Amino acid sequence: MTRKILVTSALPYANGSIHLGHLVEYIQTDVWVRFQKMQGHEVHYVCADDTHGTPIMLRAEKEGITPEQLIDKVHAEHAMDFAEFLVEFDNYHSTNSSENKELAQGIYRALKANGKIATKTIEQYYDPLKNMFLPDRFIKGECPKCHAKDQYGDSCEVCGATYSPTELINPFSAVSGATPVRKETEHYFFKLSECEDFLKDWTRSGTLQAEAANKMGEWFASGLSDWDISRDAPYFGFEIPDAPGKYFYVWLDAPIGYMASFKNLCARKGLDFDEYWKKDSTTELYHFIGKDILYFHALFWPATLEYSGYRKPTQIHAHGFLTVNGEKMSKSRGTFITARSYLDHVKNPEYLRYYYAAKLNGTMEDIDLNLEDFVARVNSDLVGKYINIASRTAGFIAKRFDAKVRAASASPVIVEMRAAAQAIADSYAARDYGRALREIMALADKANAYVAEAAPWDMAKKEGQEAALHTVCSDALEMFRLLTLYLKPVLPKLATSIEAFLKIAPLEWNAVQNGLNDGHAIETYQHLVTRIDPKQIEAMTEANKESLQPATQGHSQVRHAEAQQHEVQPVAETISIDDFAKVDLRIAKIVDAAHVEGAEKLLRLSLDIGEEQPRQVFAGIKSAYDPATLVGRLTVMVANLAPRKMKFGMSEGMVLAASDERGGPYILSPDAGAQPGMRVK
Ligand code: MSP
Ligand code: ZN
Repeated sequence: MTRKILVTSALPYANGSIHLGHLVEYIQTDVWVRFQKMQGHEVHYVCADDTHGTPIMLRAEKEGITPEQLIDKVHAEHAMDFAEFLVEFDNYHSTNSSENKELAQGIYRALKANGKIATKTIEQYYDPLKNMFLPDRFIKGECPKCHAKDQYGDSCEVCGATYSPTELINPFSAVSGATPVRKETEHYFFKLSECEDFLKDWTRSGTLQAEAANKMGEWFASGLSDWDISRDAPYFGFEIPDAPGKYFYVWLDAPIGYMASFKNLCARKGLDFDEYWKKDSTTELYHFIGKDILYFHALFWPATLEYSGYRKPTQIHAHGFLTVNGEKMSKSRGTFITARSYLDHVKNPEYLRYYYAAKLNGTMEDIDLNLEDFVARVNSDLVGKYINIASRTAGFIAKRFDAKVRAASASPVIVEMRAAAQAIADSYAARDYGRALREIMALADKANAYVAEAAPWDMAKKEGQEAALHTVCSDALEMFRLLTLYLKPVLPKLATSIEAFLKIAPLEWNAVQNGLNDGHAIETYQHLVTRIDPKQIEAMTEANKESLQPATQGHSQVRHAEAQQHEVQPVAETISIDDFAKVDLRIAKIVDAAHVEGAEKLLRLSLDIGEEQPRQVFAGIKSAYDPATLVGRLTVMVANLAPRKMKFGMSEGMVLAASDERGGPYILSPDAGAQPGMRVK
């Protein structure tokens, strides 16, 4: 029976690039979708960018563009990355869409009509300079437990403590630096506490993996609290109906984005939206997600759907997190690798698809990308085992038999390969791709053993072995065709080029039984896959080391299973090389230094930077330096800082000095040989 299946992957945030961690999920989902499509089912695979929230708003502001401009730019990049990794969505939409707005507001109204919305006045930190309430991740301060400085408002990265932002010592706004004040505000809540019985039933109905169901058990044990679904202006998102100045929290409209993307697809393809989303729908709905967002998909989302009159997901498929060489992805080790950077260096996306598939097993365990193993595995399995079968036999068909094959014989290897179809299909369906690929590679080993034993290259040299040679090579190509069919969900592009080489229709799962016809002509074999050179991997990690950025952008390195991590992510504080080039840094010779009457901290410096007149600069270094010892020294100054009028006179630049709570200020000195006026780059 043809099944009707709607599949989603989590919607990536629109404020960052797709990286190899994300790709675990999109590749996992894409393989499953392609497998189900090959089975002949009607499958729709939708996704979108997750565009709302404070980080996106602030990032756009920082880049001097509107949030809409930012999300358009990122949408194009994401769509391109996915396409190049052969992740084939039927629709890639945006949560900032008219469909989503309508659906989100409709769902909210239904929840309200069902008595599931409450309001409550809460107290929250407020940035008096930016005039906005601050999400936890935008408040920083000293950890109340271990006293580490500069920790986020929800948890400490040094000691791992979690707390509320009001417990931070000396809190400051990460947006403006201002000291936040506590302010009251009315928020809207979804009464999750009333959904416990429903959720317990839903959890037990085969919707979750065992590990996920256990996690749910823990959450039930600690009690469900109502969910805060509103945020105050300024906020980039959808306004809550009849609540001026209040916006839906991004996580309210994000999963509704699954529906919106599908609705948009329905309009284009003439599909029936209600057939898939009505309460008693007989279609299937699967969400692929990372384990870090289970809370949202296994608690909030089914409850939202239940109490607004829609169907619930058939199953939630959660996967683990990616580590690289056994550790969290890291910018300093060069293992925080973007999709783009992989494409630039390694080029072939199917290597990564193959490797991830080999590692995925349908559980929530983390998966490791060991870069050495990646090279070895891809080279040995794809080139050494699989492609080898064709490269050692196809040439004889072309040269000796006018490019025509014989119908496959009943060779035991072929019989065994066909018989394996069901087991392989079961593994794919269960998302145990690792098991599927082990089985497929074991079959490839048998095919190679068959070819090695028959030794067509020896047959070709002997008289009277024509027929046997023809059979061996034709059988080998049938084995190759079957392996290609089995690998097609993982290696769709390679499969397409092999279909062209074999001159056959696109392989569907039921083509297992249909071998090549007697006399079927094939194309000349051309080299299909090359080995990965370990140098490509080295170049990739080197390149990622060079593009070091502050850890703030790599938020996914520090993500935990807890929902609060998802509150928001801080904005990256990066500048472009062009921004940096604007700063005119010069070697300066201190030709005079003196105390300033009435100034507690300042010294007046005269700096020679090779201009006619020395520059006068006031520097806050009095506590650390006796002016007499400075005269004659070289240091570094910012020469193009706009002159500032100070109480004591004009300051025409700035000298650079290091300091923090450990000491300082320490002014910088160049190595011997530097001359006044030299540019520092
Ligand atoms: N925007 C939310 C999802 C909303 S769904 C209604 C979000 N975005 S994300 O960009 O941070 O992550 C998108 C998906 O990629 C999530 O399922 C997440 O678990 C997954 N991954 C992000 N980093 C990952 C790894 N390092 N490893 C494996 N999966 C990772 O969450
Ligand atoms: Zn701490």
